[in-house]
Amino acid sequence: MRHLIDPTDLSKTETEEIVNLALDIIGNRDKYSEVCKGKKLATLFYEPSTRTRLSFTSAMMELGGNVLGFSDAMSSSVSKGETVADTTKVINCFADIIAMRHSVEGAPLVSALNSRTPVINAGDGSHAHPTQTLTDLLTIKRELGRLDNLTIGFCGDLKFGRTVHSLIKALSKFSGINVILIAPEELRLPGYMKHEVCDKLGVPYREVESLEEVINDLDVLYMTRVQKERFLDEEEYDRVKDCFVLTADKLENAKPEMRILHPLPRVNEISVDVDSDPRAAYFRQVENGKFVRMALILKLLEWASQPEHDRELIGDDVIVGKHHCSNPKCISNTEPHAVKPMFRPSADGNGLRCVYCEHRPAK
Ligand code: NCD
Repeated sequence: MRHLIDPTDLSKTETEEIVNLALDIIGNRDKYSEVCKGKKLATLFYEPSTRTRLSFTSAMMELGGNVLGFSDAMSSSVSKGETVADTTKVINCFADIIAMRHSVEGAPLVSALNSRTPVINAGDGSHAHPTQTLTDLLTIKRELGRLDNLTIGFCGDLKFGRTVHSLIKALSKFSGINVILIAPEELRLPGYMKHEVCDKLGVPYREVESLEEVINDLDVLYMTRVQKERFLDEEEYDRVKDCFVLTADKLENAKPEMRILHPLPRVNEISVDVDSDPRAAYFRQVENGKFVRMALILKLLEWASQPEHDRELIGDDVIVGKHHCSNPKCISNTEPHAVKPMFRPSADGNGLRCVYCEHRPAK
């Protein structure tokens, strides 16, 4: 694939190629210090970010390339009403590869559909975050030595947490994966993830409401922040915001080799007394994010020139313009004059799913 919009764009082999290249980069930093000389990465960040944007910047700099872009959409032509498609065509004149973060779901896909250069989704709304997923996979590989045969507990905001959705999709390609979903009723994993990803792809999962009852089963505990900015109702956020707090005493029953991951930023869901536990891998995970993004940039620039990687982004089974998406945060609703609604049959054979954000058509 020339772009990375969703973790499912990458085959298992391509995913492993990126993780293995990141491992080689870690072992041979000098070998890669000039490989992107003369190349430019554009970071188009329409939504706040610390780690993701700076790790893309740092990754391109370590490869000997340059970086341009914006981290505040209001300082760009977006504030004048420019569409994602037009901004992309403009940036194509200045950069060789684009990393885009947007609060509107499907924006990076629209960018990719209009781009001559590779586009990387650096997070779109509550939908997907495939480069965090590559970071998580590299971290699990480095910490535990494997990506198969894992029991992984996802804890916290599984409804709005795009990192959770993307990691489950990617892990579905590996064997012996067991998922435990630890969340209050209000923050459970969306139905399409359970039925069209886990059930369809054969990933066993169970839903529980307490961390204590499962912690001793876990190889990986993936903690997440309750995504305040995605709630439409502040009272609902207040009800669930303190639902899970991992403290050092809760780790007493966990396996000595279990690893705690968190995409960060954390608010209060991991108490600072956990940081000194050798099982706490979240700050090591941040550095892995830089290495894996170096590997991804290199691979996408290489694949961009290879016809066999020029695969269709949306396939030919789509229905164009007949329905509207039910998600107000979908790009087909926020840019209705520029983006045609598109749907494809859902993976469970039951109705349609939006190509941009995976929601159902509006009734
Ligand atoms: C995550 C994100 O932006 O989705 N952070 C990140 O990219 N490292 C998680 C979060 O914001 O909670």
